Amino acid sequence: MSLPTASPVRTDLAYQVCINAACRATFSVDETHFACPSCGDLLDVAYDWDRLPVPSSLRDFEARWADRLDPLNFSGVWRFRDLLPFAPPGMIVTIGEGQTLLQNAEKVAQYVGMNPGRLRLQYEGMNPSGSFKDNGMTAAFTHARMVNAQRVACASTGNTSAALAVYCSATDFGFKAIIFIGSGKIAYGKLAQALDHGALTIQIVGDFDDAMQRVKQVADRLGIYLMNSVNPFRLEGQKTIMYRVLEASGWEPPDWVVVPGGNLGNSSAFGKAFIELKHLGLIDRVPRLAVINATGARTLDHLVNQEDLTWRKGDPDIARACHYFQKLDDGGVKASTIASAIEINRPVNLKKCLRALEFCGGVVRQVSDQEIMDAKARVGAGGLGCEPASAASVAGAKKLREEGVIAPGDRVVCILTGHQLKDPTATVAYHGTDQDNFEKVLGSRGVRRAGFANRPVVVVNDLDDIIRTIALYSDVEDGPAGG
Ligand code: F0G
Repeated sequence: MSLPTASPVRTDLAYQVCINAACRATFSVDETHFACPSCGDLLDVAYDWDRLPVPSSLRDFEARWADRLDPLNFSGVWRFRDLLPFAPPGMIVTIGEGQTLLQNAEKVAQYVGMNPGRLRLQYEGMNPSGSFKDNGMTAAFTHARMVNAQRVACASTGNTSAALAVYCSATDFGFKAIIFIGSGKIAYGKLAQALDHGALTIQIVGDFDDAMQRVKQVADRLGIYLMNSVNPFRLEGQKTIMYRVLEASGWEPPDWVVVPGGNLGNSSAFGKAFIELKHLGLIDRVPRLAVINATGARTLDHLVNQEDLTWRKGDPDIARACHYFQKLDDGGVKASTIASAIEINRPVNLKKCLRALEFCGGVVRQVSDQEIMDAKARVGAGGLGCEPASAASVAGAKKLREEGVIAPGDRVVCILTGHQLKDPTATVAYHGTDQDNFEKVLGSRGVRRAGFANRPVVVVNDLDDIIRTIALYSDVEDGPAGG
Protein backbone atom coordinates (compact mmCIF):
# COMPACT_ATOMS: atom_id res chain seq x y z
CA MET A 1 0.00 0.00 0.00
CA SER A 2 1.51 3.31 -1.00
CA LEU A 3 -0.90 5.33 1.11
CA PRO A 4 0.96 6.19 4.31
CA THR A 5 4.31 7.22 2.84
CA ALA A 6 5.10 10.91 2.64
CA SER A 7 5.16 12.48 -0.80
CA PRO A 8 8.64 13.29 -2.07
CA VAL A 9 7.54 16.70 -3.38
CA ARG A 10 5.46 18.05 -0.50
CA THR A 11 6.73 19.53 2.70
CA ASP A 12 3.24 19.97 4.22
CA LEU A 13 2.24 17.81 7.17
CA ALA A 14 -1.08 17.12 5.44
CA TYR A 15 -1.74 17.27 1.72
CA GLN A 16 -3.90 15.74 -1.00
CA VAL A 17 -2.62 13.07 -3.34
CA CYS A 18 -4.08 11.36 -6.40
CA ILE A 19 -4.75 7.65 -5.84
CA ASN A 20 -3.79 6.77 -9.42
CA ALA A 21 -0.44 4.96 -9.31
CA ALA A 22 0.57 6.46 -12.65
CA CYS A 23 -0.20 10.03 -11.49
CA ARG A 24 0.29 10.58 -7.73
CA ALA A 25 -0.02 14.36 -8.21
CA THR A 26 -0.14 16.23 -4.89
CA PHE A 27 -2.02 19.32 -3.77
CA SER A 28 -2.16 21.45 -0.66
CA VAL A 29 -5.05 20.97 1.77
CA ASP A 30 -5.82 24.65 1.12
CA GLU A 31 -6.94 23.73 -2.37
CA THR A 32 -10.38 22.45 -3.31
CA HIS A 33 -10.57 19.63 -5.85
CA PHE A 34 -13.16 16.92 -6.23
CA ALA A 35 -11.07 15.04 -8.77
CA CYS A 36 -7.38 15.14 -9.57
CA PRO A 37 -6.79 18.15 -11.86
CA SER A 38 -4.05 16.18 -13.63
CA CYS A 39 -5.81 12.89 -14.41
CA GLY A 40 -9.37 13.11 -13.07
CA ASP A 41 -8.99 10.28 -10.53
CA LEU A 42 -9.93 10.34 -6.85
CA LEU A 43 -7.85 12.18 -4.25
CA ASP A 44 -6.76 11.04 -0.80
CA VAL A 45 -5.83 13.15 2.18
CA ALA A 46 -2.31 12.06 3.13
CA TYR A 47 -0.06 12.87 6.05
CA ASP A 48 3.66 13.06 6.73
CA TRP A 49 3.35 10.77 9.74
CA ASP A 50 7.08 10.92 10.45
CA ARG A 51 6.75 14.57 11.41
CA LEU A 52 3.36 14.43 13.11
CA PRO A 53 2.77 13.66 16.78
CA VAL A 54 1.10 10.27 16.73
CA PRO A 55 0.02 8.55 19.96
CA SER A 56 2.16 5.59 20.92
CA SER A 57 -0.95 3.58 21.74
CA LEU A 58 -4.65 3.89 20.93
CA ARG A 59 -5.26 3.88 24.70
CA ASP A 60 -3.77 7.37 24.82
CA PHE A 61 -7.07 8.66 23.42
CA GLU A 62 -8.85 7.62 26.62
CA ALA A 63 -7.34 10.63 28.43
CA ARG A 64 -9.70 12.82 26.39
CA TRP A 65 -12.78 11.24 28.00
CA ALA A 66 -11.98 13.19 31.16
CA ASP A 67 -12.33 16.53 29.38
CA ARG A 68 -15.60 16.35 27.52
CA LEU A 69 -16.39 20.04 28.07
CA ASP A 70 -13.97 20.67 25.24
CA PRO A 71 -16.19 20.22 22.13
CA LEU A 72 -13.31 18.60 20.27
CA ASN A 73 -13.04 15.91 22.93
CA PHE A 74 -16.81 15.53 23.13
CA SER A 75 -17.02 14.81 19.39
CA GLY A 76 -16.68 11.13 18.54
CA VAL A 77 -14.79 12.25 15.43
CA TRP A 78 -12.41 14.90 16.76
CA ARG A 79 -11.32 13.16 19.91
CA PHE A 80 -9.28 11.15 17.39
CA ARG A 81 -8.03 14.32 15.70
CA ASP A 82 -4.40 13.14 15.72
CA LEU A 83 -5.42 10.51 13.16
CA LEU A 84 -6.98 13.07 10.79
CA PRO A 85 -4.68 16.04 11.37
CA PHE A 86 -5.50 18.21 8.36
CA ALA A 87 -7.18 21.15 10.15
CA PRO A 88 -6.08 23.75 12.68
CA PRO A 89 -8.20 22.99 15.80
CA GLY A 90 -9.66 26.51 15.70
CA MET A 91 -11.24 25.79 12.29
CA ILE A 92 -13.08 22.63 13.28
CA VAL A 93 -16.83 22.62 12.66
CA THR A 94 -18.51 20.19 15.08
CA ILE A 95 -22.07 19.71 16.29
CA GLY A 96 -21.33 16.87 18.72
CA GLU A 97 -21.38 14.05 16.18
CA GLY A 98 -20.21 10.51 16.81
CA GLN A 99 -21.86 9.76 20.17
CA THR A 100 -22.61 6.29 18.94
CA LEU A 101 -22.87 2.84 20.42
CA LEU A 102 -21.51 -0.63 19.77
CA GLN A 103 -24.49 -2.68 20.86
CA ASN A 104 -24.49 -6.33 21.87
CA ALA A 105 -27.53 -7.81 20.14
CA GLU A 106 -28.10 -11.44 21.14
CA LYS A 107 -31.35 -11.99 19.26
CA VAL A 108 -29.81 -10.60 16.09
CA ALA A 109 -26.75 -12.81 16.68
CA GLN A 110 -29.06 -15.82 16.83
CA TYR A 111 -30.77 -14.80 13.60
CA VAL A 112 -27.41 -14.46 11.86
CA GLY A 113 -26.24 -17.79 13.26
CA MET A 114 -23.49 -16.47 15.53
CA ASN A 115 -22.48 -17.77 18.95
CA PRO A 116 -23.64 -15.64 21.90
CA GLY A 117 -21.71 -12.41 22.30
CA ARG A 118 -20.15 -12.63 18.86
CA LEU A 119 -22.30 -10.16 16.91
CA ARG A 120 -22.42 -6.48 17.71
CA LEU A 121 -24.14 -3.61 15.96
CA GLN A 122 -22.38 -0.28 15.51
CA TYR A 123 -25.36 2.03 15.73
CA GLU A 124 -24.63 5.16 13.70
CA GLY A 125 -28.30 6.24 13.79
CA MET A 126 -27.47 8.05 17.04
CA ASN A 127 -25.75 10.86 15.15
CA PRO A 128 -27.43 14.30 15.17
CA SER A 129 -28.89 13.84 11.69
CA GLY A 130 -29.66 10.15 12.29
CA SER A 131 -27.00 8.55 10.08
CA PHE A 132 -23.27 7.89 9.81
CA LYS A 133 -22.95 10.81 7.38
CA ASP A 134 -22.30 13.27 10.22
CA ASN A 135 -18.87 11.68 10.74
CA GLY A 136 -17.90 12.79 7.26
CA MET A 137 -19.77 16.08 7.24
CA THR A 138 -17.96 17.48 10.25
CA ALA A 139 -14.65 16.90 8.45
CA ALA A 140 -15.80 18.22 5.07
CA PHE A 141 -17.42 21.30 6.66
CA THR A 142 -14.16 21.91 8.49
CA HIS A 143 -12.33 21.86 5.18
CA ALA A 144 -15.02 24.06 3.59
CA ARG A 145 -14.40 26.58 6.36
CA MET A 146 -10.63 26.38 5.80
CA VAL A 147 -11.12 27.32 2.15
CA ASN A 148 -13.80 29.96 2.87
CA ALA A 149 -16.59 28.12 1.03
CA GLN A 150 -20.14 29.35 1.60
CA ARG A 151 -22.42 27.45 -0.75
CA VAL A 152 -22.23 23.69 -0.24
CA ALA A 153 -23.97 21.07 -2.37
CA CYS A 154 -24.51 17.34 -2.71
CA ALA A 155 -26.46 14.77 -4.65
CA SER A 156 -28.07 12.33 -2.31
CA THR A 157 -30.28 9.35 -1.68
CA GLY A 158 -31.30 11.29 1.43
CA ASN A 159 -28.84 10.91 4.27
CA THR A 160 -26.00 12.98 2.90
CA SER A 161 -28.48 15.75 2.15
CA ALA A 162 -30.04 15.50 5.62
CA ALA A 163 -26.61 15.75 7.23
CA LEU A 164 -25.58 18.63 4.99
CA ALA A 165 -28.80 20.51 5.83
CA VAL A 166 -28.27 19.93 9.56
CA TYR A 167 -24.67 21.19 9.51
CA CYS A 168 -25.75 24.34 7.64
CA SER A 169 -28.62 25.08 10.01
CA ALA A 170 -26.84 24.16 13.24
CA THR A 171 -23.68 26.23 12.67
CA ASP A 172 -23.04 29.94 12.29
CA PHE A 173 -20.45 30.09 9.55
CA GLY A 174 -22.79 31.28 6.79
CA PHE A 175 -23.03 27.96 4.96
CA LYS A 176 -25.89 27.65 2.45
CA ALA A 177 -27.17 24.16 1.56
CA ILE A 178 -28.10 23.11 -1.97
CA ILE A 179 -29.14 19.51 -2.41
CA PHE A 180 -29.96 17.43 -5.48
CA ILE A 181 -32.23 14.43 -5.15
CA GLY A 182 -33.82 12.06 -7.63
CA SER A 183 -37.51 12.74 -7.60
CA GLY A 184 -39.42 9.99 -5.77
CA LYS A 185 -36.11 8.34 -4.83
CA ILE A 186 -35.78 9.53 -1.26
CA ALA A 187 -37.39 8.18 1.91
CA TYR A 188 -39.78 10.55 3.66
CA GLY A 189 -37.85 10.93 6.89
CA LYS A 190 -34.86 12.20 4.92
CA LEU A 191 -36.82 14.54 2.67
CA ALA A 192 -38.49 15.93 5.79
CA GLN A 193 -35.06 16.74 7.25
CA ALA A 194 -33.85 18.57 4.14
CA LEU A 195 -36.99 20.69 4.06
CA ASP A 196 -37.19 21.35 7.79
CA HIS A 197 -33.55 22.43 8.01
CA GLY A 198 -34.01 24.93 5.23
CA ALA A 199 -31.90 23.45 2.41
CA LEU A 200 -32.54 24.53 -1.16
CA THR A 201 -33.90 21.18 -2.34
CA ILE A 202 -33.71 20.50 -6.05
CA GLN A 203 -35.64 17.45 -7.18
CA ILE A 204 -34.55 16.34 -10.60
CA VAL A 205 -36.25 13.76 -12.76
CA GLY A 206 -33.94 10.78 -12.52
CA ASP A 207 -32.14 8.78 -9.87
CA PHE A 208 -29.08 9.25 -7.67
CA ASP A 209 -26.66 8.45 -10.48
CA ASP A 210 -28.24 11.21 -12.62
CA ALA A 211 -28.23 13.67 -9.70
CA MET A 212 -24.59 12.90 -8.95
CA GLN A 213 -23.51 13.65 -12.51
CA ARG A 214 -25.48 16.89 -12.46
CA VAL A 215 -24.26 18.20 -9.13
CA LYS A 216 -20.65 17.77 -10.23
CA GLN A 217 -21.33 19.93 -13.29
CA VAL A 218 -23.18 22.54 -11.25
CA ALA A 219 -20.49 22.65 -8.55
CA ASP A 220 -17.86 23.04 -11.22
CA ARG A 221 -19.70 25.80 -13.09
CA LEU A 222 -20.73 27.81 -10.03
CA GLY A 223 -17.72 27.11 -7.81
CA ILE A 224 -19.88 25.46 -5.17
CA TYR A 225 -18.21 23.26 -2.56
CA LEU A 226 -19.16 19.60 -3.11
CA MET A 227 -20.04 17.52 -0.05
CA ASN A 228 -20.36 14.08 -1.67
CA SER A 229 -17.88 11.39 -0.76
CA VAL A 230 -15.70 12.18 -3.80
CA ASN A 231 -14.61 14.87 -1.36
CA PRO A 232 -11.61 13.20 0.34
CA PHE A 233 -12.13 15.14 3.57
CA ARG A 234 -15.51 13.42 4.08
CA LEU A 235 -13.76 10.08 4.22
CA GLU A 236 -11.27 11.33 6.82
CA GLY A 237 -14.20 11.84 9.20
CA GLN A 238 -15.72 8.47 8.36
CA LYS A 239 -12.51 6.71 9.40
CA THR A 240 -13.48 7.46 12.98
CA ILE A 241 -16.38 4.98 12.90
CA MET A 242 -13.68 2.32 13.00
CA TYR A 243 -11.79 4.09 15.79
CA ARG A 244 -14.96 4.04 17.88
CA VAL A 245 -15.52 0.35 17.11
CA LEU A 246 -11.98 -0.33 18.34
CA GLU A 247 -12.48 1.91 21.37
CA ALA A 248 -15.68 0.06 22.34
CA SER A 249 -13.83 -3.25 21.91
CA GLY A 250 -11.01 -2.36 24.31
CA TRP A 251 -8.87 -1.54 21.23
CA GLU A 252 -9.03 -5.16 20.07
CA PRO A 253 -9.95 -5.37 16.35
CA PRO A 254 -12.95 -7.58 15.56
CA ASP A 255 -12.59 -10.40 13.01
CA TRP A 256 -15.13 -8.90 10.61
CA VAL A 257 -16.61 -5.52 9.83
CA VAL A 258 -19.74 -5.80 7.68
CA VAL A 259 -21.01 -2.67 5.96
CA PRO A 260 -23.62 -1.85 3.32
CA GLY A 261 -22.15 -0.61 0.04
CA GLY A 262 -23.70 2.24 -1.93
CA ASN A 263 -21.37 4.97 -3.10
CA LEU A 264 -18.63 3.02 -1.26
CA GLY A 265 -17.44 5.90 0.90
CA ASN A 266 -17.64 4.02 4.20
CA SER A 267 -15.85 0.90 3.00
CA SER A 268 -13.15 3.11 1.45
CA ALA A 269 -12.77 5.12 4.65
CA PHE A 270 -12.63 2.00 6.83
CA GLY A 271 -9.89 0.56 4.62
CA LYS A 272 -7.89 3.79 4.85
CA ALA A 273 -8.31 3.82 8.62
CA PHE A 274 -6.88 0.31 8.93
CA ILE A 275 -4.07 0.91 6.44
CA GLU A 276 -2.96 3.91 8.49
CA LEU A 277 -3.39 2.28 11.90
CA LYS A 278 -1.33 -0.70 10.77
CA HIS A 279 1.34 1.54 9.27
CA LEU A 280 1.53 3.51 12.51
CA GLY A 281 1.87 0.30 14.54
CA LEU A 282 -1.34 1.10 16.44
CA ILE A 283 -2.96 -2.25 15.58
CA ASP A 284 -1.24 -5.52 14.76
CA ARG A 285 -4.19 -7.28 13.15
CA VAL A 286 -6.63 -5.98 10.53
CA PRO A 287 -10.31 -7.06 10.50
CA ARG A 288 -11.74 -8.52 7.31
CA LEU A 289 -14.18 -6.28 5.51
CA ALA A 290 -17.47 -7.46 4.00
CA VAL A 291 -19.25 -5.00 1.72
CA ILE A 292 -22.90 -5.78 1.03
CA ASN A 293 -24.78 -4.58 -2.05
CA ALA A 294 -28.51 -4.79 -2.62
CA THR A 295 -29.27 -7.15 -5.49
CA GLY A 296 -30.92 -4.32 -7.41
CA ALA A 297 -27.75 -2.18 -7.17
CA ARG A 298 -24.97 -4.73 -7.31
CA THR A 299 -22.19 -3.06 -9.28
CA LEU A 300 -19.45 -3.87 -6.76
CA ASP A 301 -20.61 -7.45 -6.32
CA HIS A 302 -20.65 -7.95 -10.08
CA LEU A 303 -17.28 -6.35 -10.74
CA VAL A 304 -15.47 -8.09 -7.89
CA ASN A 305 -17.08 -11.53 -8.02
CA GLN A 306 -17.84 -11.89 -11.73
CA GLU A 307 -15.24 -9.68 -13.38
CA ASP A 308 -12.41 -10.21 -10.87
CA LEU A 309 -11.76 -6.49 -10.64
CA THR A 310 -9.00 -5.80 -8.11
CA TRP A 311 -6.92 -2.87 -6.88
CA ARG A 312 -3.69 -3.97 -8.62
CA LYS A 313 -1.47 -1.51 -6.71
CA GLY A 314 -3.51 1.50 -7.77
CA ASP A 315 -4.06 0.43 -11.35
CA PRO A 316 -7.37 -1.50 -11.46
CA ASP A 317 -8.59 -2.54 -14.89
CA ILE A 318 -11.30 0.07 -14.92
CA ALA A 319 -12.26 -0.80 -18.52
CA ARG A 320 -14.19 -3.71 -16.98
CA ALA A 321 -16.28 -1.26 -14.97
CA CYS A 322 -16.82 1.00 -18.00
CA HIS A 323 -17.96 -2.00 -20.00
CA TYR A 324 -20.45 -2.93 -17.26
CA PHE A 325 -21.80 0.63 -17.07
CA GLN A 326 -22.20 0.66 -20.85
CA LYS A 327 -24.18 -2.58 -20.66
CA LEU A 328 -26.45 -1.08 -18.00
CA ASP A 329 -27.00 2.01 -20.14
CA ASP A 330 -27.64 0.00 -23.30
CA GLY A 331 -30.22 -2.10 -21.47
CA GLY A 332 -31.77 0.96 -19.80
CA VAL A 333 -31.04 -0.70 -16.43
CA LYS A 334 -31.43 1.57 -13.41
CA ALA A 335 -30.63 0.73 -9.80
CA SER A 336 -33.71 -0.54 -7.97
CA THR A 337 -34.03 -1.59 -4.33
CA ILE A 338 -36.22 -0.88 -1.30
CA ALA A 339 -32.94 0.11 0.38
CA SER A 340 -33.14 3.50 -1.34
CA ALA A 341 -30.01 4.76 0.45
CA ILE A 342 -27.89 2.34 -1.58
CA GLU A 343 -29.87 2.48 -4.82
CA ILE A 344 -26.73 3.38 -6.75
CA ASN A 345 -25.24 1.76 -9.84
CA ARG A 346 -22.20 3.99 -10.34
CA PRO A 347 -20.36 4.13 -7.01
CA VAL A 348 -17.95 7.06 -7.09
CA ASN A 349 -15.50 5.49 -4.65
CA LEU A 350 -15.19 2.20 -6.49
CA LYS A 351 -11.38 2.32 -6.75
CA LYS A 352 -10.80 3.25 -3.12
CA CYS A 353 -13.12 0.43 -2.11
CA LEU A 354 -11.02 -2.01 -4.15
CA ARG A 355 -7.98 -0.83 -2.21
CA ALA A 356 -9.83 -1.41 1.07
CA LEU A 357 -10.94 -4.88 -0.02
CA GLU A 358 -7.39 -5.86 -0.90
CA PHE A 359 -5.86 -4.59 2.33
CA CYS A 360 -8.58 -6.04 4.55
CA GLY A 361 -8.97 -9.42 2.82
CA GLY A 362 -12.42 -8.23 1.88
CA VAL A 363 -15.42 -10.00 0.40
CA VAL A 364 -18.50 -8.65 -1.39
CA ARG A 365 -22.00 -10.08 -1.43
CA GLN A 366 -25.44 -9.03 -2.61
CA VAL A 367 -28.68 -9.50 -0.69
CA SER A 368 -32.26 -9.34 -1.98
CA ASP A 369 -34.89 -6.90 -0.81
CA GLN A 370 -36.63 -9.84 0.91
CA GLU A 371 -33.45 -10.60 2.87
CA ILE A 372 -33.00 -6.92 3.69
CA MET A 373 -36.55 -6.44 4.99
CA ASP A 374 -36.45 -9.65 7.05
CA ALA A 375 -33.09 -8.67 8.56
CA LYS A 376 -34.43 -5.20 9.27
CA ALA A 377 -37.38 -6.65 11.18
CA ARG A 378 -35.01 -8.85 13.21
CA VAL A 379 -32.78 -5.87 13.99
CA GLY A 380 -35.81 -3.88 15.11
CA ALA A 381 -37.02 -6.71 17.35
CA GLY A 382 -33.59 -7.31 18.86
CA GLY A 383 -31.66 -4.09 18.55
CA LEU A 384 -32.01 -0.39 18.15
CA GLY A 385 -33.70 -0.41 14.75
CA CYS A 386 -32.42 0.76 11.40
CA GLU A 387 -33.43 1.75 7.90
CA PRO A 388 -33.47 -0.85 5.09
CA ALA A 389 -29.96 -0.11 3.69
CA SER A 390 -28.40 -0.64 7.11
CA ALA A 391 -30.05 -4.04 7.46
CA ALA A 392 -28.14 -5.14 4.36
CA SER A 393 -25.13 -5.53 6.67
CA VAL A 394 -27.00 -7.99 8.91
CA ALA A 395 -28.49 -9.84 5.93
CA GLY A 396 -24.99 -10.00 4.44
CA ALA A 397 -23.48 -11.34 7.67
CA LYS A 398 -26.18 -14.03 7.72
CA LYS A 399 -25.36 -15.01 4.15
CA LEU A 400 -21.62 -15.18 4.85
CA ARG A 401 -22.34 -17.20 7.98
CA GLU A 402 -24.46 -19.67 5.97
CA GLU A 403 -21.68 -19.97 3.39
CA GLY A 404 -19.22 -20.71 6.19
CA VAL A 405 -17.08 -17.69 5.29
CA ILE A 406 -17.85 -16.23 8.72
CA ALA A 407 -17.49 -18.79 11.52
CA PRO A 408 -19.99 -18.82 14.43
CA GLY A 409 -17.24 -17.88 16.88
CA ASP A 410 -15.88 -14.95 14.86
CA ARG A 411 -16.30 -11.50 16.34
CA VAL A 412 -18.48 -9.62 13.90
CA VAL A 413 -19.45 -5.96 13.84
CA CYS A 414 -22.29 -4.93 11.51
CA ILE A 415 -22.58 -1.23 10.80
CA LEU A 416 -26.12 0.11 11.19
CA THR A 417 -25.71 3.17 9.05
CA GLY A 418 -29.03 4.94 9.47
CA HIS A 419 -31.88 5.37 11.96
CA GLN A 420 -35.07 3.35 11.82
CA LEU A 421 -37.25 6.47 11.47
CA LYS A 422 -35.56 7.52 8.24
CA ASP A 423 -37.89 5.30 6.22
CA PRO A 424 -41.20 4.65 7.98
CA THR A 425 -42.87 3.72 4.69
CA ALA A 426 -40.89 0.50 4.29
CA THR A 427 -41.34 -0.45 7.95
CA VAL A 428 -45.10 0.12 8.03
CA ALA A 429 -45.58 -1.69 4.71
CA TYR A 430 -43.75 -4.74 6.14
CA HIS A 431 -45.51 -4.92 9.50
CA GLY A 432 -48.89 -3.51 8.48
CA THR A 433 -52.03 -5.37 7.42
CA ASP A 434 -52.78 -3.32 4.32
CA GLN A 435 -52.18 -5.77 1.47
CA ASP A 436 -52.36 -3.09 -1.21
CA ASN A 437 -49.73 -1.05 0.56
CA PHE A 438 -47.51 -4.13 0.96
CA GLU A 439 -47.79 -4.82 -2.78
CA LYS A 440 -47.14 -1.22 -3.73
CA VAL A 441 -44.11 -0.66 -1.50
CA LEU A 442 -42.58 -4.14 -1.20
CA GLY A 443 -44.32 -6.63 -3.49
CA SER A 444 -43.36 -4.53 -6.48
CA ARG A 445 -39.73 -5.12 -5.50
CA GLY A 446 -40.00 -8.86 -5.19
CA VAL A 447 -40.67 -9.05 -1.45
CA ARG A 448 -43.18 -11.90 -1.10
CA ARG A 449 -43.49 -12.48 2.63
CA ALA A 450 -43.31 -10.51 5.84
CA GLY A 451 -42.21 -13.52 7.87
CA PHE A 452 -41.14 -11.46 10.87
CA ALA A 453 -44.02 -8.98 10.82
CA ASN A 454 -45.44 -7.66 14.07
CA ARG A 455 -48.99 -6.94 12.93
CA PRO A 456 -51.01 -4.17 14.51
CA VAL A 457 -54.24 -5.55 15.98
CA VAL A 458 -57.43 -3.66 15.19
CA VAL A 459 -59.99 -3.72 18.02
CA VAL A 460 -63.25 -1.88 18.57
CA ASN A 461 -63.02 0.70 21.30
CA ASP A 462 -64.55 -1.48 24.02
CA LEU A 463 -62.88 -2.37 27.33
CA ASP A 464 -63.86 -6.06 27.34
CA ASP A 465 -62.85 -6.50 23.72
CA ILE A 466 -59.50 -4.85 24.39
CA ILE A 467 -58.86 -7.06 27.43
CA ARG A 468 -59.83 -10.19 25.46
CA THR A 469 -57.48 -9.13 22.68
CA ILE A 470 -54.59 -8.64 25.07
CA ALA A 471 -55.25 -12.07 26.58
CA LEU A 472 -55.31 -13.58 23.09
CA TYR A 473 -52.18 -11.95 21.73
CA SER A 474 -49.85 -11.33 24.65
CA ASP A 475 -47.77 -14.21 25.88
CA VAL A 476 -47.45 -12.81 29.42
CA GLU A 477 -49.57 -14.40 32.21
CA ASP A 478 -52.12 -12.13 33.92
CA GLY A 479 -50.81 -10.95 37.26
CA PRO A 480 -51.74 -8.53 40.03
CA ALA A 481 -52.02 -4.89 38.97
CA GLY A 482 -48.67 -3.19 39.00
CA GLY A 483 -46.89 -6.58 38.94
N1 F0G B 1 -26.42 3.22 4.46
C1 F0G B 1 -27.09 4.37 4.45
C2 F0G B 1 -28.16 4.56 5.46
C3 F0G B 1 -26.77 5.38 3.51
O1 F0G B 1 -27.43 6.53 3.51
C4 F0G B 1 -25.76 5.14 2.56
C5 F0G B 1 -25.41 6.12 1.55
C6 F0G B 1 -25.10 3.91 2.62
C7 F0G B 1 -25.45 2.97 3.58
C8 F0G B 1 -24.01 3.59 1.68
O2 F0G B 1 -22.84 4.14 2.12
O3 F0G B 1 -22.09 5.31 0.08
O4 F0G B 1 -20.57 4.93 2.00
O5 F0G B 1 -21.30 3.04 0.55
N2 F0G B 1 -26.06 7.16 1.32
C9 F0G B 1 -25.66 8.22 0.40
C10 F0G B 1 -26.57 9.41 0.52
C11 F0G B 1 -25.40 7.79 -0.97
O6 F0G B 1 -26.70 10.18 -0.44
O7 F0G B 1 -27.15 9.61 1.59
P1 F0G B 1 -21.62 4.37 1.12
